[in-house]
Amino acid sequence: MTNRREFLRRTALASGAVALGIDSIPAAAAPVDALSRPVQPAPPDRRIRLLILGGTGFIGPHQVRYALERGHEVTIFNRGQSAPGMFPGVEELTGDRVTGELDALRGRRWDAVIDNSASRSDAPDWVRDSANLLRDQADQYLFISTRSVFRDLSAVPATVDAPVLTRETTSGWSEGDPYPYGLAKALAEAEATAAFGDRTTIVRPGLIVGPGDETDRFTYWPVRIERGGEVLAPGNPEGDRIQVIDVRDLCEWVVRLCEDRTYGTFMAVGPENGRSISEFLYGIAAVTTAPLTWTWVPREFLAEHGFRPYREMPVWRPPTPGFEGFARFDLSREVAAGLTFRSLADTATSTLDYHHARPADRRSQLRAGASAEAEAEVLRAWHRSRGG
Ligand SMILES: NC(=O)c1ccc[n+]([C@@H]2O[C@H](COP(=O)([O-])OP(=O)(O)OC[C@H]3O[C@@H](n4cnc5c(N)ncnc54)[C@H](OP(=O)(O)O)[C@@H]3O)[C@@H](O)[C@H]2O)c1
Repeated sequence: MTNRREFLRRTALASGAVALGIDSIPAAAAPVDALSRPVQPAPPDRRIRLLILGGTGFIGPHQVRYALERGHEVTIFNRGQSAPGMFPGVEELTGDRVTGELDALRGRRWDAVIDNSASRSDAPDWVRDSANLLRDQADQYLFISTRSVFRDLSAVPATVDAPVLTRETTSGWSEGDPYPYGLAKALAEAEATAAFGDRTTIVRPGLIVGPGDETDRFTYWPVRIERGGEVLAPGNPEGDRIQVIDVRDLCEWVVRLCEDRTYGTFMAVGPENGRSISEFLYGIAAVTTAPLTWTWVPREFLAEHGFRPYREMPVWRPPTPGFEGFARFDLSREVAAGLTFRSLADTATSTLDYHHARPADRRSQLRAGASAEAEAEVLRAWHRSRGG
């Protein structure tokens, strides 16, 4: 079974090369696992006590597992609703950030705190309460923020220093309204920094993808491509860019940022030079084997037929005025701080493995992307418009 799968992966890599117009991929002769693993980081030079706020959702478990692998002592803090007892042997503290029940955190000491769970409109309150409580009980506060905090990404390449949303610059928001997501996260970043000062680390991920993702935004593409047939591919094959982050690359890196006491503000997207939407789709096709053809449909036609970036066509976001750098981040600072990238082949394969292990009703009901019928309808309209 393993050998057959390995054979299929290697064959698929070779066919991916053909799709990309490359005569051959010399590395296709090497085992895929050797291609797909990032450079192995050195072992940590200290054992840390790590507190993870939100240890049982999508991203928390990847951090918990990696921190344990690296020999650290882990405590998680949740309400105990999502997955109580998920990690036997890991200390699980219970409380509720909505109601400010944080007593379980008092009187303890940690080397670093990773805050995953503050993502609602009241995120600034959550972070203010927990960061103020923990400022003398922990050396470092690492806040998981988002690429949505930016208000201007017109510079290409963009960097993490681009301007961020403020109350004054958030269009459509007025005092008294709930904070929209990007503004809430930007204000929450400021609360973390107000409490921890230069001991704060802010990490701003783009779309987080890979095993465990229940939003299905990335998953749509490997699942769709694996089905084969005529695949609707959106936009400008070379001009539209993609930068996302594999959840394992994100989570392993944030644990290492804590080991290394690395402070400051960082992006978490990849790969380093980004990739075009065609490299992205053909790269995913390289780990599948169903016969398929591609039909590229321009964004204007898709818009006329109700197919929106990030919605019916998830992950794809063509450049818009003021956001030309959205998927063109320069990541020199992040790479220097230890961010590494798995191959797209690894992300796509692991996502498919995760998807196929889900219950049948979940597999048949993706939460993102166009339905097969809607895709076929737009393809028919496109061919008609071309006289086909
Ligand atoms: N997904 C993306 O593409 C993306 C992109 C950029 C940034 N982000 C950021 O990444 C983080 C996403 O984390 P995630 O996807 O792992 O979240 P998640 O799956 O929703 O998990 C939330 C975690 O927080 C705990 N929690 C929820 N409500 C709580 C409360 N009131 N008090 C205490 N604990 C609570 C949950 O456990 P209990 O239910 O047991 O409490 C769970 O462990 C967010 O900060 C988000 O803004 C996500």
